[in-house]
Amino acid sequence: MTKHREVKRSEAIDRVHELVKEGGCGAIQEVVGSLARWFPQYSWVGIYVVHEGMLVLGPWTGAQATEHTRIPIGQGICGAAARSGKTEIVEDVRKDPRYLSCFVSTRSEIVVPILLDGVVVGEIDIDSEMLDAFTEEDRLFLEKIAELVAPFIV
Ligand code: SME
Repeated sequence: MTKHREVKRSEAIDRVHELVKEGGCGAIQEVVGSLARWFPQYSWVGIYVVHEGMLVLGPWTGAQATEHTRIPIGQGICGAAARSGKTEIVEDVRKDPRYLSCFVSTRSEIVVPILLDGVVVGEIDIDSEMLDAFTEEDRLFLEKIAELVAPFIV
């Protein structure tokens, strides 16, 4: 995938807002692709949707597909964030026993719940090949992105 210059987070928020305003549900795949393009440290970006007590993989982008296309709520980092409704940041996935391994190159991960009317309807899952890649800025930024896409997660 071609990586472009790093986009400022504030600019990214405006652009995602535009994308979902124009494209609704159909824009989610583009949002996922854009996040990975704008932020080169985001190696793999995916959205899981909550369906009958499971997290089901929706749009994603990255070099490889994950075998974890259905994750029970409560399992892995993804399941923990879905259960608590709180963002999970893992600085070093090799040190977190909850971690469900997808890619050997992953070093850190962030999982941001997508809430609609206080209910977790999905989540944004991002892997990075960089150790400790996700900052407080990333958390606030991605929580804003989660808010913007929430009405369009089905
Ligand atoms: N690592 C996640 C599983 C999903 S993959 O990263 C795409 C977890 O521990 O829940």
